[in-house]
Amino acid sequence: MKHLRSLVDLRIDDFNTIMDWSHKLKRLLKQGKRPDLLKNRTCALVFEKASLRTRVSFETAMAQLGGTALYLTGDAGWRQRESIGDFVRVLGEYCDFLVCRAFSQSTIEELVRFDSVPTINGLTDDSHPCQALADFLTIDESAGGKLRGKQLTFVGDGNNVVRSLIQGAAMTGVRFRLACPKEYQIPESFLHQARALGPLDFDQSDDIRKMVHDADFIYTDVWTSMGQEAENESRKNAFGPYQVNSQLMSLTPRTCKVLHCLPARRGLEITDAVIDSDQSLVFAQAGNRLHAQKGLLIWLALENGYTTHDQIDRLL
Ligand code: CP
Ligand code: NVA
Repeated sequence: MKHLRSLVDLRIDDFNTIMDWSHKLKRLLKQGKRPDLLKNRTCALVFEKASLRTRVSFETAMAQLGGTALYLTGDAGWRQRESIGDFVRVLGEYCDFLVCRAFSQSTIEELVRFDSVPTINGLTDDSHPCQALADFLTIDESAGGKLRGKQLTFVGDGNNVVRSLIQGAAMTGVRFRLACPKEYQIPESFLHQARALGPLDFDQSDDIRKMVHDADFIYTDVWTSMGQEAENESRKNAFGPYQVNSQLMSLTPRTCKVLHCLPARRGLEITDAVIDSDQSLVFAQAGNRLHAQKGLLIWLALENGYTTHDQIDRLL
């Protein structure tokens, strides 16, 4: 059974296929076409943390592809009424997909161990693969399909989003730079694993100017991720100089675009002037979550025998 625990579960070909289908599904939607490739299929969602984009884009993706999504709330008893193993084995009797947003990556690993339903990581403390798929879709669109060699500079915390972006950079040939205080940078052990996915052009430094001056895309995210609230004050101090504001943007090429996975803390990691500027792709990026989830769901459907290449080619 195929799952998406992180981008490590994709080969470069799979990544490109998901991108290709996501682009096609986006074009079709613009023409008013919603191919029902997942007719009568169901996707359960169980989330340990808040979500707007991930939840709504998966629910909408399932509906537009002819299927149904089930958002499970507290009364389903996640971690309360029965073991994770029993929970996921039961879901496997009913559902075709499961999207889980968890604190710990080990929760996703545990779900997958039972191999009872194709499972998608909807964000953990370590990774956010669905976000990265939408981000590379956005970069690819903005770069007119020529994303290889483009420079993506992330300014801020070396967090879950960054880790998935680094894995994606290894698979796409995007040059990745991280401007980040030393104590929040990415450890070599993670980079070593990412290099196994493809040739990775990576550098990180607390020298912001050096990291941003060649950027085609500047990306930022909150300084305090969900679950780190106790560190809020120390993080505000550490990341203060890393705010993406007009002054920072003046250090980048004029053509540089701005990305943010959202939700944003306006006035902290990014200013209104930048997020609402002409250089910002932030809302198109959020929109691309829908198209990327669809591409991913179709790929998982194919890999798990729910559909065929012929059917996909006929409908896309
Ligand atoms: N970017 C993102 O994953 O947003 P949500 O937390 O709202 O799902
Ligand atoms: N790094 C953020 C991403 C939210 C989509 C968090 O984990 O809270």
